[in-house]
Amino acid sequence: MFVTHSRILHRHLCRGLSTLQPTIKEQISSTPIGLLLETKGFVKSIRNSKNLSFLDLTDGTTSKVINVVLLGKEPPKFQIGQSVSIKGEWNISKGAKQDYELIYNCKNPEHSYQIIGPVPEDYPLQKKATSMSYLRTLPSLKHRTSTVSSFYRLRSFLETSVQKFFNNHDFTKVNPPLITSSDCEGAGETFKIAQSEEFFQKQTYLTVSSQLHLESLALALNRVWTLSPCFRAENSKTSRHLCEFWMLEAEVCYLNELDPLLDFTENLIKWVTRDLAQNYNNEYLNGVYLDENVIRSRWDNILKEEWKRVTYIEALNLINEEGIDTLKFGDSLNLDHERFLAKNGPIFVTDYPESLKPFYMSKSKNYDSQQPTVACFDLLLPEFGELVGGSLREHDYEVLKESMIKHNMKLDDMNWYLELRRNGTIPHGGFGMGWERFINYLSGHDNIRDIVPFPRAPNLCNA
Ligand code: 4AD
Repeated sequence: MFVTHSRILHRHLCRGLSTLQPTIKEQISSTPIGLLLETKGFVKSIRNSKNLSFLDLTDGTTSKVINVVLLGKEPPKFQIGQSVSIKGEWNISKGAKQDYELIYNCKNPEHSYQIIGPVPEDYPLQKKATSMSYLRTLPSLKHRTSTVSSFYRLRSFLETSVQKFFNNHDFTKVNPPLITSSDCEGAGETFKIAQSEEFFQKQTYLTVSSQLHLESLALALNRVWTLSPCFRAENSKTSRHLCEFWMLEAEVCYLNELDPLLDFTENLIKWVTRDLAQNYNNEYLNGVYLDENVIRSRWDNILKEEWKRVTYIEALNLINEEGIDTLKFGDSLNLDHERFLAKNGPIFVTDYPESLKPFYMSKSKNYDSQQPTVACFDLLLPEFGELVGGSLREHDYEVLKESMIKHNMKLDDMNWYLELRRNGTIPHGGFGMGWERFINYLSGHDNIRDIVPFPRAPNLCNA
């Protein structure tokens, strides 16, 4: 028997005081059998048989779809891509693919439908699998596909998860600025703000990393983190680089050694991956281009026992001994070297040469003036390369000042930062993780341009 009063349904589905249209995710999880249900979403696919037609409806809140069965010899005609509203009876599914289905019977006066938004004949997202490179040409519509929307749901899940982890460890989430007067990494890859000389009376940039501001905040709040956009004018047209990307950064006080920072980084990544694995129910991730085996093997890589740690000099020896390359002290490691080092699992490479790293890093514990290195690390993942970079920060005023002079920095511009070392300085350190790279890795995907909705890279700024 039908329960026809739509208010009952509405009350049942509303959580708290919400009077919003229930989502497909809510409807799938909590609609009692036999209810008259009105669902709203996009037509994702259509199948016709003799006396029946089937529609899959999606609204993006879950990777699951509502399967609508259209009864009758002349059921209403729909097109893929239309946004629609369909009212029918919620029932146990007779098909094997899903648990429930919505039955629309054109002879039942209580059943109805409405086409909310029509589409033209050439709607570009037809059911047949569309390649990722084709999807990239559809900056406003690609978000509706199962694969691309999976990235966004996963991203949203992970953001909540890291927040929980940091909260559990007494971190404060802070909001550093995006406009800055300093080039944190000193690599000259900043986007300059054109009007700034007139406006701010000085040259300003879009931030390449929030680290310097985080240091200032950590020296007030002890442990801080942020997840914010960074901008780099690197001419890298790779699947690992964006000009506008997000970085997860943390800064921690009372650190004299690298190891506790490495432990913390490893714990964070493992905790969040475990959280994902435990909550994985195809809700967040499920798309044509996502390979469950690749996903699982990447998660397993992360959850491997203790990650290896080698110094840069040890890494050079490994690379040279295995005949991968002939490197000398001071050479940088490329992606092939990184892949070789991480071939058996995630690995931290620590203590790189001073000459390869920015001004703010403190000297290595076993500093050797013949082969000067700094207390820093990169985390490398199998087949993937670098995910995280971090270091201990030089906290001695004179030593830091000397390093800035050596790097030809204008001390006047950096006084705000340098002064921290004269006012209750504390040994501290931190790291930055490429957020899209992390999501890329966990989703088994290989191009970070698909992880952000509107990627920015050289020659790429559509929409
Ligand atoms: O190693 P990076 O340059 O470190 C810093 O910027 C530090 N100041 C962070 C800190 O200690 N607070 O960048 C950190 C991470 C890299 O390991 C990489 O994953 C990511 O940021 N990253 C990029 N991701 C996407 N596109 C780019 N162009 C990136 N450049 C760096």
